[in-house]
Amino acid sequence: MSVVLIGYRGSGKTTVGRLLAERLGKSFVDCDDLIVKQAGKSVREIFAEGGEETFRKLEASAVAKLAKRKDAVIALGGGAMMREENRRTMTDAEHQIVYLRCEPAELLRRIQTDPATSDNRPALTNLDGGIEEIQSLLSGREPIYKANMSVELDVTNLTPAQVVERLVKVI
Ligand code: S3P
Repeated sequence: MSVVLIGYRGSGKTTVGRLLAERLGKSFVDCDDLIVKQAGKSVREIFAEGGEETFRKLEASAVAKLAKRKDAVIALGGGAMMREENRRTMTDAEHQIVYLRCEPAELLRRIQTDPATSDNRPALTNLDGGIEEIQSLLSGREPIYKANMSVELDVTNLTPAQVVERLVKVI
């Protein structure tokens, strides 16, 4: 069984995923990294050249590959679970799906201070990536994250190391 981390941009899926994998002795795979490797372009370039739908198709094919991993820690992009096909693929694979929940203001702070943001985080709406965008997207995404997870952890006030400590107790 693999552990699949889901949640909004900035919730720490990649950072926590790496640490958790190390701690559990599993390998770590990041869905966005796989997409970038297969496309030979950054996420931002894929969005700029082919639009979001092109990215979502590449993402669905990466999710289908990752779902076959039996003993890994997998970080999914924040929008991956919004596609029915991806939800089905992941839930059918019977992995443990962990939702890293985080308050919008903290998500914004983390996104703004993450140096990877400019390369990896194209605009998702015309709301300029601010708090309104986060609140608006989260209101649509959170019910889906919750309906498909097996574990939820509020990471708003936790460091990545603390998140890992909590997760090893519950997964
Ligand atoms: C997206 C999140 C990104 C990446 C893409 C779309 C989203 O991944 O997949 O920019 O729709 O929220 P992270 O959640 O790892 O930043």
